[in-house]
Order: sequence, then C-alpha cells, then structure tokens
Amino acid sequence: MTHQDELKKLVGEEAVKFIENNTVVGLGTGSTVKFMVDALGKRVKDEGLSIIGVPTSERTKQQANSLGIITKGIDEVDHIDLTIDGADQIDKNFQGIKGGGGAHLWEKIVAINSDKNMWIVDESKMADHLGSFPLPLEVIPYGSQQLFKRLKDKGYSPEFRIKDGHHVKTDSDNDIIDLHLHEIDHPQEIANTLDHMTGIVEHGLFLDIVNTVIVGHEDGPEVLHA
Ligand code: A5P
Repeated sequence: MTHQDELKKLVGEEAVKFIENNTVVGLGTGSTVKFMVDALGKRVKDEGLSIIGVPTSERTKQQANSLGIITKGIDEVDHIDLTIDGADQIDKNFQGIKGGGGAHLWEKIVAINSDKNMWIVDESKMADHLGSFPLPLEVIPYGSQQLFKRLKDKGYSPEFRIKDGHHVKTDSDNDIIDLHLHEIDHPQEIANTLDHMTGIVEHGLFLDIVNTVIVGHEDGPEVLHA
C-alpha cells in the first residue's frame, strides 16, 4: 500500500467512528471512501451496527452490498443523517472540488439532502486556493460540442474526459468536461456562471456544504470543523 493509501485508510477508519446506530448514512465515492466503506462493513458485521447506506454511485452500492451493508436509493429515504465522502481539493475556507471520479452529480444530490456532511482526505488534498485540480462538469451529451465551444470562449480550457478513445460516462449516462482553471479566486462567481449555462447538469464546486473534514497526516487524523 502506498503512503497516500495509508492516509486514506486512516481517515476512512476514523470517519466510521462518527456513525451512530440506527441512522441513514450517505456513502460517497472514490478511493478514500472505499476504505471507509470497508471499515463500515466491519462495524456492521462485528458490532451489529444497524444503518442504511445511501450510495452516490453504482460502484459504492456494489461494494457496500457485498459487505452486508443495506442500501436504499435517495428517493427511498426520508432524510440522511450524515454523508461521508472524499474530495479532490479543499481550500482554507472549506470549499471543495469534487468529481475526479465522475460521481459529483449524485454526490451533490446526496450531500444537499444530508443533515451533516463529512469529507475525508489525505493531506495532499488541502490547498490555499482551489483550481490546480481540474474542475469537473457533468454535461448532457446533446449539444455538448457547442457547450464545449462556449466554455472555450470563456477561457476555461475545457477538456472532454476520455478513456480508451471514448467519452467517460457517468452513472446518469452523461459526459464529463474538465475545466483547467489553474487558480479559482472567486469560487462563488464561477459556480454562478456554470449554474446558468444550459447543458451543464452539475459542476464539481461544493460550496458551503461540508461541516467536518478529517485530514490524514503521518502522525494521525486531524478533525477540522468548518
Ligand atoms: C468522485 O467523483 C469524487 O468526487 C471523489 O469523491 C473524489 O474524487 C475523491 O476521490 P479519491 O478519494 O479517490 O481521491
């Protein structure tokens, strides 16, 4: 296991300590969350912890179910107590970029319907400013080349996410465009602009959403309150 994976495992294991019995838990997506879901499965098995998970991707759903964690869809629960998710970059004001794994649409829907949100990251994800990590957009395939041109004209340096010569598809069968913005000085302004561009289903800026961040350091997990 790499050093970074060790830190991801550390925060994943720390996060599940915050999960209470008989609660509904949003389950994020990504390599850090994978360790968290493993640790949650262990609590369910060893302690008989009773929770319902609301997964933010097909991947997470499969993993959770394989570990005996009961899951329900977002529209099958009446509330979510706590969502635990990863992040790609977090600035000093606790604003974040997500969607590196292409799941940010479902992740944002689950996050905004959660009473509390917790992000778990290794220390490399913490930054002074957002933007060195490309900002993902989930876009409707219809007219996406036209949207791409509009994004380019705005100077956002867009790039379709491609794998093996094909557009990467989300769980909602949409495409992803990554914006290479390099430094985002005013996240709210960019978010506003993107919120109003037709064809963008959701962008990966998660602003004023998180309550708690657990950061993995060499000497242990650090719990920060936003
Ligand atoms: C999924 O689309 C993302 O939002 C992930 O939550 C985020 O990219 C963190 O993933 P890792 O834990 O794999 O870095």
